[in-house]
Amino acid sequence: MYFLLKPILFQFDPEKVHYFVTRNLKRFNRFPGGAALSRAIWDVNNPRLEKEVFGLKFKNPVGLAAGFDKNAELMGEMANMGFGFVEIGTVTPLPQPGNPKTRMFRLPSDGALINRMGFNNFGVDVAAERIAAFRRNAKGAQKDLIIGGNIGKNKVTPNEEAVNDYIKCFDRLFDVVDYFVVNVSSPNTPGLRELQEKEPLMHLLNTLQQRNSKNGTSRPILLKIAPDLTDSQLDDIVDIVQQTGIAGIIATNTTISRENLTAAESLKNELGGLSGKPLTKRSTEVVRYLHQKSNGSFPIIGVGGIHSADDAMEKLQAGASLVQLYTGFIYEGPCLIGRINKKLLAI
Ligand SMILES: Cc1cc2nc3c(=O)[nH]c(=O)nc-3n(C[C@H](O)[C@H](O)[C@H](O)COP(=O)(O)O)c2cc1C
Repeated sequence: MYFLLKPILFQFDPEKVHYFVTRNLKRFNRFPGGAALSRAIWDVNNPRLEKEVFGLKFKNPVGLAAGFDKNAELMGEMANMGFGFVEIGTVTPLPQPGNPKTRMFRLPSDGALINRMGFNNFGVDVAAERIAAFRRNAKGAQKDLIIGGNIGKNKVTPNEEAVNDYIKCFDRLFDVVDYFVVNVSSPNTPGLRELQEKEPLMHLLNTLQQRNSKNGTSRPILLKIAPDLTDSQLDDIVDIVQQTGIAGIIATNTTISRENLTAAESLKNELGGLSGKPLTKRSTEVVRYLHQKSNGSFPIIGVGGIHSADDAMEKLQAGASLVQLYTGFIYEGPCLIGRINKKLLAI
């Protein structure tokens, strides 16, 4: 079905298409029988797909990557399409509009996207309220949906005060999300990636870990990293995970590299992060490197250029415990989730 829709959708501006599709997806799921139909078409249910990672039980290992549901409005719809978990955000303490439009570009000949959204979001309060409402009204399988909260800092907050922004988001989401992702790897917030350096990162993660306990419970905290880190920076990341005791890593975010693209020069020179097929190999390399260097001592969520079941298998074989999709979901459609889960059942 998606292969019929895609050529039409790809005629229009990608961000407008995103809002058009998600609006209609919500309508479809609200329509009597719509949610059940969505599950019947896409959702693959099998206890053999279940996986326990950092103390949480995932219905299946295929998740929606951050950035698609920035404002926590599509969790039920994504669960009905078969995702085993959904990561909302990146959210920031205050709402912010993000960068001026146009800020998202398709590179169809490369199976890629470039985006410079810049953390456009309605702010953490809106996300927290929506997740709480979703939890209250969830029925059936949606009750067990694992929801991650991906947190960042506002553009206007200087790096020296960034830790306060992360604390605000952490505290506000603590009661409603299952795990946290500290995003310091987006290329679209000026200076953000400087927080990936060892000293500020240790400070940020230690501060969050110190607050990570409420009524005897704590939440797994993961760090999302860029694919552009050098081996020695990745060695630091392994050290940092071990020293701070955080639960794991999400590898990777989008890349600033523009290697091996076939798209027109003007398109590939658009500023922002590149995602999709050109990222597949590098993000798998990062997963493998971290897994080997750490002797598999912490879980890794593999994300970047998964466009087929085989791409997902490669990430899992390289050491990922779970995978996430964004660009592959746009290019291949919701069938990709089922294809990966069916492949897992076949081995
Ligand atoms: C339009 C767009 C927006 C994104 N926004 C975020 C974001 O807000 N936070 C984040 O951590 N990652 C964000 N990402 C990165 C994705 O979560 C993912 O890490 C990256 O795109 C690589 O996976 P992919 O090749 O499957 O897209 C975004 C990606 C895209 C394409």
